[in-house]
Amino acid sequence: MDGEEDIILQTKDLTKRFGGLIAVSEVDFELQRGKVKAIVGDNGAGKSTFIKMLSGALQPTGGEILFKGESVNFDSPRDAKSLGIETVYQDLALIERMSVADNIFLGRESVFSIAGIKFVRKAKMQKDAEAHLKDIGINVESAGEEIMNLSGGQRQSAAVARAVFTDPEVIIMDEPTAALGVKEARKVLDLIGSLSRSGISIILISHTLPYVFEVADRIVTFRSGKKVYETSTDETDESTVVEHMLGAGKTPSSLGLNQEE
Ligand SMILES: Nc1ncnc2c1ncn2[C@@H]1O[C@H](COP(=O)(O)OP(=O)(O)OP(=O)(O)O)[C@@H](O)[C@H]1O
Ligand SMILES: [Mg+2]
Repeated sequence: MDGEEDIILQTKDLTKRFGGLIAVSEVDFELQRGKVKAIVGDNGAGKSTFIKMLSGALQPTGGEILFKGESVNFDSPRDAKSLGIETVYQDLALIERMSVADNIFLGRESVFSIAGIKFVRKAKMQKDAEAHLKDIGINVESAGEEIMNLSGGQRQSAAVARAVFTDPEVIIMDEPTAALGVKEARKVLDLIGSLSRSGISIILISHTLPYVFEVADRIVTFRSGKKVYETSTDETDESTVVEHMLGAGKTPSSLGLNQEE
């Protein structure tokens, strides 16, 4: 099952410069269908910049992105979304003055028209949003609540719910548990597990290594914009990953090592 045909998303030599700064440097990366791949690395290692190129929020300076083996150019997040790539950003990108339901339905509102005038089915959207949140085990009191009135954890839940709602093939999550308490984080981890079992492919960025080890099939480590280490989760441990993150204990055999078979 590990043949080329199972790679849904791939990068070759993907690079992003901001002026003189190389935020992401020549990264080769593969996401297998239905797998959870974690990206870890210290602050500023280039993780968010990397996934923003996969989600169309940033355009690469160099290299290539392939979706199902075809080279793609994402001019905007809309292009990536149209292929079924959804992203939960680190800064969440929710609209504060809109309700949870409106955020979930943003850009695909349920509408009807009378005499050529368009109406939005607010009540239906709220009910559907609440059912959807409940389905995926997320606890937000009312989908009619404005984002600005929610806790950090509830916001994070709403952002995850919005991504899942579109029935995507790939979900990219940048720190989805960062603002969550243990119980809420547990729900997101369970959700990641059930999404991957249903065939969705997931990229997870997290600083919380125990979570990464719990849900990821493989772990990629970034350091200073470069992919420095990749391994299946079973074949490594936290201290080894941390060494690669920080560059401590560098040995000739770990320098630039890519253990992907
Ligand atoms: N829009 C931008 N303009 C200029 N430099 C940027 C921009 N976005 C990111 N950078 C720089 O690129 C580098 C990588 O940043 P990035 O946000 O990708 O790191 P990260 O691994 O996601 O870090 P963290 O764990 O703190 O979220 C950093 O040096 C950062 O300052
Ligand atoms: Mg980041």
